Amino acid sequence: MKVLLTGANGYIGRRLKHRLLQEETIHLRLFVTHKQTLTLQERVEIFQGNTFDTQSLDRALEGIDTAYYLIHSMASHNYRELDRKSAQNFLDACIQAGVKRIIYLGGLGEKKSASEHLLSRIETGEILSSRPDAIQTLWFRAGVIIGSGSASFEIIRHLVEKLPFMITPKWVNTLCQPIAQSDVIEYLTLAAFLSAHENVMIDIGSETMSYKHLLLGYADAVGLERTLIPVPFFTPKLSSYWLTIMTPVPYSIASALIEGLKSEVLLTNENAVKLFPTIHPLSYREAVNATVEEIKTAQVLSRWSDASGEAWETDHANLADAVFIDRQIIPLGDISAKKVFDTFCSVGGKTGWFGFDWLWVMRGFIDKLFGGFGISRGRRDPTSVRIGDSIDFWKVVDLQENQRLLLFAQMKLPGKAWLEFLIKDGKLYQSAYFYPQGLAGRVYWYMLIPFHFFVFRGMANNLIKKSK
Ligand SMILES: NC(=O)c1ccc[n+]([C@@H]2O[C@H](COP(=O)([O-])OP(=O)(O)OC[C@H]3O[C@@H](n4cnc5c(N)ncnc54)[C@H](OP(=O)(O)O)[C@@H]3O)[C@@H](O)[C@H]2O)c1
Repeated sequence: MKVLLTGANGYIGRRLKHRLLQEETIHLRLFVTHKQTLTLQERVEIFQGNTFDTQSLDRALEGIDTAYYLIHSMASHNYRELDRKSAQNFLDACIQAGVKRIIYLGGLGEKKSASEHLLSRIETGEILSSRPDAIQTLWFRAGVIIGSGSASFEIIRHLVEKLPFMITPKWVNTLCQPIAQSDVIEYLTLAAFLSAHENVMIDIGSETMSYKHLLLGYADAVGLERTLIPVPFFTPKLSSYWLTIMTPVPYSIASALIEGLKSEVLLTNENAVKLFPTIHPLSYREAVNATVEEIKTAQVLSRWSDASGEAWETDHANLADAVFIDRQIIPLGDISAKKVFDTFCSVGGKTGWFGFDWLWVMRGFIDKLFGGFGISRGRRDPTSVRIGDSIDFWKVVDLQENQRLLLFAQMKLPGKAWLEFLIKDGKLYQSAYFYPQGLAGRVYWYMLIPFHFFVFRGMANNLIKKSK
């Protein structure tokens, strides 16, 4: 079976790729917007493109039997419109290419009470299912996914771990049916082999519980005592700001998710049980335990922030022409290039930034106030990195073994910035590049010169010391 997996760099996509590769009868083709985010593997083809470039879609869909649609454009402000267009292009191209089945994962919820984010997920499903005469669509719908790196789960985790007391708005009483990430992946995998030929909507989830019980259940699973103090208001704006500050998600995602908490997200059909009798979804407690174990053992395969999303500048060929450059050069002496490479590849997250970490934390806090990511995204893994990983408010855009790590700044900035660690001719070159935007960009750079002087010098020196 020839299978196309779109969104293969995303949270669900990366995990599904792993699982599909265990199926020997499947020949897998991945569709990603940036080819360099994935490493070449046996039995896998990688196609670069996007759903707004219909030629790239046509190429990727040639000879495909089953196509997974795991795309959404949540990072863009007009994501609803983009998602509609993307789904329509995908449907048309699948029909044109003679694809037999589309498998789509969207969100649970009713159209009449759906938030803007959920509406976009529903519209996508409706578009993909709109031509049953020409192509079959299996439309899965899931609520909160419990898994390390899932945005909703990361919110629960950060709130519970950071706050002994929580003033909880009315939305904590809304009911939902969470599902373990591993179950989602299993449903999606088995869907490729399903014998049904007509369109089916398949709601997936485990036990019914309120968001309050999600929070308390997580606290209980990790052995924390937590107290919730209920207030009878919804406070969507305040809640979104609060989540932005206390958790790794930026305001855009926090507000979209909070808006969705007003209405119940419960299963409306039993198709999952009927069509997939071998899957017995994990309970919430089991799902949390599995997730905690994944984090503890550094087995996190993907995170919500790994998808390319907004502000990923791929063109970094002309960094040397940047208007402002801060460069620190230090000879490696007798330290091997590998040691230095491993050290700078562990930057960020719990390791910190090799000195003046409190300044980075402050910068992260300011970033959060301006709606950015802040530094609480941390790292997927304490030591290993891959292109496309997020590290605090940076994105890994280039990685060359024992030579180079290039980070693109995703923080809110009046311009574009990169941070490069490069080993060349027995020396470490640590360079910060900045392309300012207008006067504000220039003022920003000059204001930070005193900080840069200490921060970047300290960073390079401490990095070498740590390598040693
Ligand atoms: N994660 C959850 O908790 C959750 C819960 C319920 C339902 N779902 C549903 O599951 C599906 C997948 O979600 P996810 O969390 O895995 O999303 P994600 O991590 O944000 O990934 C979205 C993917 O979409 C791709 N993409 C965006 N625009 C594209 C375009 N124009 N052309 C090609 N690719 C494009 C991105 O590719 P690049 O990275 O290559 O740019 C990215 O990999 C969504 O429909 C979502 O509603 C997710």
